[in-house]
Amino acid sequence: MTIYPVPSKWAAKAKIDAARYEAMYGEAASDPDSFWRREAQRLEWMTPFTKVKNTSFDETDFGIKWFEDGALNVAANCIDRHLAERADAVAILWEGDSPGEERRITYRDLHEEVGRLANALKANGVRKGDRVTIYLPMIPEAAFAMLACARIGAIHSVVFGGFSPDALAGRIQDCDSSLVITADEGLRGGKKVPLKTNVDEALARCTSVSRVLVVKRTGGDVRMKDGRDIWYHDALRAVSADCPPEAMDAEDPLFILYTSGSTGKPKGVLHTSGGYLVWASMTHEYVFDYRPGDIFWCAADVGWVTGHTYVVYGALANGATTLMYEGVLNYPDFSRFWQIVDKYQVDIFYGAPTALRALMREGDEWVKKTSRKSLRLLGSVGEPINPEAWEWYYRVVGEERCPIVDTWWQTETGGTMMTPLPGAHALKPGAASMPMFGVKPVIVDAEGCELGGATEGNLCITDSWPGQMRTVWGDHERFFQTYFSAYPGKYFTGDGCRRDEDGYYWITGRVDDVINVSGHRMGTAEIESALVAHAKVAEAAVVGYPHDLKGQGIYAYVTLNANEVESAEVRADLVQWVRHEIGPIATPDVIHFSPGLPKTRSGKIMRRILRKIAENDVSNLGDISTLADPSVVETLIASRAVDA
Ligand code: WTA
Repeated sequence: MTIYPVPSKWAAKAKIDAARYEAMYGEAASDPDSFWRREAQRLEWMTPFTKVKNTSFDETDFGIKWFEDGALNVAANCIDRHLAERADAVAILWEGDSPGEERRITYRDLHEEVGRLANALKANGVRKGDRVTIYLPMIPEAAFAMLACARIGAIHSVVFGGFSPDALAGRIQDCDSSLVITADEGLRGGKKVPLKTNVDEALARCTSVSRVLVVKRTGGDVRMKDGRDIWYHDALRAVSADCPPEAMDAEDPLFILYTSGSTGKPKGVLHTSGGYLVWASMTHEYVFDYRPGDIFWCAADVGWVTGHTYVVYGALANGATTLMYEGVLNYPDFSRFWQIVDKYQVDIFYGAPTALRALMREGDEWVKKTSRKSLRLLGSVGEPINPEAWEWYYRVVGEERCPIVDTWWQTETGGTMMTPLPGAHALKPGAASMPMFGVKPVIVDAEGCELGGATEGNLCITDSWPGQMRTVWGDHERFFQTYFSAYPGKYFTGDGCRRDEDGYYWITGRVDDVINVSGHRMGTAEIESALVAHAKVAEAAVVGYPHDLKGQGIYAYVTLNANEVESAEVRADLVQWVRHEIGPIATPDVIHFSPGLPKTRSGKIMRRILRKIAENDVSNLGDISTLADPSVVETLIASRAVDA
């Protein structure tokens, strides 16, 4: 493995060099109050805080509070604060699905748009603390909507536009949203996504929603329900742009974002105002070595946490120009990303390994025919990046000039937790490397014993950081149980991790029943419950398996009801069914018809064995003698070739 030392230019110029990293990391660890008191000054507080950190992961006095007696408004920090100096600077650079379609929104425009929408929300009955569901494509209105909620203290829940009506309905119901903001249709790679129709279907089941604001994106023909649906532009026309920001306590909720866990339905991860924004702003500045005037492009959808923290909140808190791209990487062709980089002279590009692998497969020419001279830094997020994709990114895209920050974090963590910092750490391809300031990682074994030195095990964090989630919406007990009960006193990440002899951290992937498909996080349990909801299915077990492009693919073992016949039609029907129940991102790659599943005598499905068979690694299945019927394993191995 090649190690890339910090280029001398970066060591000399970066905000954080090796010595500064050590000093800041040390201070944040030993004197968090001083460190965070200072870092929190990056924001404008309406009421200054006096208390900094009040947190405990122990069951007896469990609680997480940061800057608790301070008040601020997140939208004012992302907009108003910049008006004195940067009113005419571009806040959002929007590139549409088709080349040639673009919008440039200055901070002055953003102030006006967000103020108007905030007033429109109020006029439609939304009050501080109410929940608003946002189901929009990657258009500037998605950012306006998030910020308008923040401005009036409403809690937004953004639902990714690729989720099905069922998934959307579940998320609306769980948090009792009173208003939904959507668009007539989305546009991706020239294809239309029927967002409004999906909302209609979802709302047939949700009684809490009394208003739907509909952005006209494509002008497609949609049905507007009298008394419920209003065109976004009409709602805005009826109100003024002047909306004073609401003073929010630091611990008042900012947003809910649903994410998959190893059990049950998706959890509403709740982030609050003060700590989250300090964390988003700080990590955006230090991780990307962000400088005023940089064009920053985070290619994630705002439907995921990466889009929340780096397309919107972190970037705008820092007064940056954030690029928002509506489309896909291969439309009109595989050069599109790099054409956009050239068009807007992007300085910093932040994308997902799955996209890089898809681009790499198409060959270097698509990249090489563009200039990319403006790029200074590259980032990776969402899943482990395999060294081949890393090297390609580094050599072909960045021409060995741009360091790569491989940022490990989670919806729950609010922002980057581990990464190499470009001016401080030598790069090892595939390593999440070093913890951010205030992050105290430990690796534990199955019993929870902390392992020292070079080692491998489960990754926990022993102390709170400001960007940490505060609860699961509506289920605080589940929050504690999910993250703090496996290893008492520690936050358990659900990830496996290795620490090498230089102290670098390497994320090895999830150790629970969560899989990461094209950087999208999914619970195997969710896909299983979708499958068993099908009339022909008796039982299902889903596992991940290595997939060249997606990182992990979805492998579903399905047992049909006794009178059903396995066929290609049923298989296709099941695939369609899951797409309909959850959304296209959950499309199973393999349906393996299984007359029986390997179970213990107490009836527990042995997933370890199912994973091995899916990986086609059947040489060492371990002890199968405890199975109720060991012969099912032979049957599955024999039928794998047929199905997979
Ligand atoms: C995985 C996305 C390796 C990890 C920000 C984590 C990564 C899950 C990396 C969270 C990375 C994210 N290297 N693995 N750089 N980044 N992961 O909540 O398994 O969508 O637990 O947050 O993605 O996914 P989530």
